Amino acid sequence: MADKKLRYGFIGAGGIAAAHLRDLVRRDDVEVVALADISEAAMRRCQKQFSIPGTHTDWREMLATENLDAVSVCTPNKLHEEPTIDALAAGCHVLCEKPLAHSAAAGERMVAAAHEHGRKLVIGFQYRYHPRTRYLRQAFKAGQFGNVLFARVRAIRRRGIPNWGVFGRKDLQGGGPLIDIGVHVLEMAHYAMGSPRPVSAAADMFAYIGNKPSDRVESMWKGWDYENHTVEDLAVGRIRFANGAVAHVESAFAVHAEDAWNFELMGDKGGASWNPTRIFTDEHGHMVDKSPGWLPKDDIFSRKMNNFVDHCLHDAPTLAPGEDGLAVQRMLDGLYRSAESGGGEVEI
Ligand SMILES: NC(=O)c1ccc[n+]([C@@H]2O[C@H](COP(=O)([O-])OP(=O)(O)OC[C@H]3O[C@@H](n4cnc5c(N)ncnc54)[C@H](O)[C@@H]3O)[C@@H](O)[C@H]2O)c1
Repeated sequence: MADKKLRYGFIGAGGIAAAHLRDLVRRDDVEVVALADISEAAMRRCQKQFSIPGTHTDWREMLATENLDAVSVCTPNKLHEEPTIDALAAGCHVLCEKPLAHSAAAGERMVAAAHEHGRKLVIGFQYRYHPRTRYLRQAFKAGQFGNVLFARVRAIRRRGIPNWGVFGRKDLQGGGPLIDIGVHVLEMAHYAMGSPRPVSAAADMFAYIGNKPSDRVESMWKGWDYENHTVEDLAVGRIRFANGAVAHVESAFAVHAEDAWNFELMGDKGGASWNPTRIFTDEHGHMVDKSPGWLPKDDIFSRKMNNFVDHCLHDAPTLAPGEDGLAVQRMLDGLYRSAESGGGEVEI
């Protein structure tokens, strides 16, 4: 496909679709030809902002008529599976937004469809393009941590319940902060610790703020839809991996604690923290803390989009194959299954 423009379409034309489009329209080897969304208003907004010719209220019609090479799937989580599989079957490469799906079984069907149709499936994990993540992953590969024994994963908003979209709807999203924001830090930690195979999970989840009106406390997004709020405010869990490593995960949309966006690794030779970026190890008879002298200020969204286009057009390697999305999905799935069944350990 070296000289051909990538004919590109969107399934879902809301918030994250606009972020994808910002980078895609800058490339002269990409032609964004169509959008599909059930909301005419969302489509019109996107169409106007990015001058996209085609609009469809049904993604199947778009796939059947627009002769696309690639699509972004940017719908609510429950609606990742069906459009992704349809797009792969229509011969498109797919960039599916995170999380891969609302359940591991759905994720498995998506990865199987990519293999069946011989198309590329990439998961929208922009944080693995982050210079900090890449540095720690390189350090892991160079053996700086030895065997990673433990990871601590924290994605905490003191009060940050989305007041748009359907982020409070368990039926459409599969869960709350764990699947929405915890997924980002969990996937980074998992990647930086060498992507071990998860084998079991246990979790507890608590709901106490999102299911009540938001007006009583000043916070960044007031007025969430508390009447239809069916997801957790706080999730705490443990994942065990086949290599003996353990991860503790904490994720919240609302909790009486400081905001946090970080993971830490502890290995038998060294450890690490993502933010601030540090490696803890022993050198020359001393305990030392190392940190990079300079890190590039990369735009991780741009890197994600450019890498996907180069992956489609030039077979450039992707950092975020669908299979990695599935591994993370299995962990999320295990954590939710455990919490729903009383918090005991469940097999992954
Ligand atoms: N990578 C990131 O950092 C990041 C950030 C935000 C959102 N996301 C992910 O992107 C996805 C969408 O989130 P968003 O913030 O853009 O939400 P959003 O609510 O702004 O947009 C979702 C769009 O999907 C459309 N939609 C719903 N049902 C549809 C259907 N049957 N067919 C076609 N379109 C349909 C809605 O009308 C809406 O326009 C979610 O899975 C979310 O987790 C990822």
